[in-house]
Amino acid sequence: MHSASQRRPLVAANWKMYKTVAETEDFLDRFLGSIGNLGEVDLVLCPPATALAAAVERTRRSPIRIAAQNVHEQEAGPFTGEISIPMLRELDVAGAVVGHSERRALFCETDEALARKVPALLSAELLPILCVGESEAERDAGETEAVLARQVDADLAAVPDPKLAGVVIAYEPIWAIGTGRTATTEQAQEAIALIRSRIAVRDSAVAARIRIVYGGSVKPGNAAGLFAQPDVDGGLVGGASLDPEDFLAICEAA
Ligand code: PGA
Repeated sequence: MHSASQRRPLVAANWKMYKTVAETEDFLDRFLGSIGNLGEVDLVLCPPATALAAAVERTRRSPIRIAAQNVHEQEAGPFTGEISIPMLRELDVAGAVVGHSERRALFCETDEALARKVPALLSAELLPILCVGESEAERDAGETEAVLARQVDADLAAVPDPKLAGVVIAYEPIWAIGTGRTATTEQAQEAIALIRSRIAVRDSAVAARIRIVYGGSVKPGNAAGLFAQPDVDGGLVGGASLDPEDFLAICEAA
């Protein structure tokens, strides 16, 4: 129904709380020299907040875009420890991951907050990479479809239909994150097709255009099979993105 050919693949590196500024610069020195023929793929790197400025500077004359791992939706205010969208824009940061399961589980990020963060990013012309995904217990209970529908509906509720195509959704089953238990190609395709059909309820043209990537133990050895699925538009990569050779191999698979 939906042709993947109209969607440009995207591969994003989620470094989580890994890499200092020095380590970020070392990675980029090694990675940038080897990305010559990746012109067909959108490359996004999400370092820790402290390394954002250095990463932007190091990648200015490259196709790589730098995104944050979280953002607050208010422009400014009494929100200790938070970083605002204007602060990211000042650094030329291009987007932010929001709703990662670690932030939902460990830092109480709610669907209500995400429903504010996603439109705030879009209004500022930053790329939201919205993570959704079910837990192992939810999958075992047959609730995957309901969980994904609930998250997609709630988190994107305040985004007008025509703007939805500016969001990247990352399907990240929680049981696959950092576990080495990658979803099968069939599981990834099935869940991402479900998400796409949920978007189609709102707008079928947007559903055909919105990019939905897979995350959860993506490695050089399994990336090509996952990315070859008709609805899988790339990946959000944690552990394997910390090594420049592994991350390059994953980008090449896209
Ligand atoms: P992983 O993490 O690739 O290490 O499983 C993915 C993520 O959390 O985005």
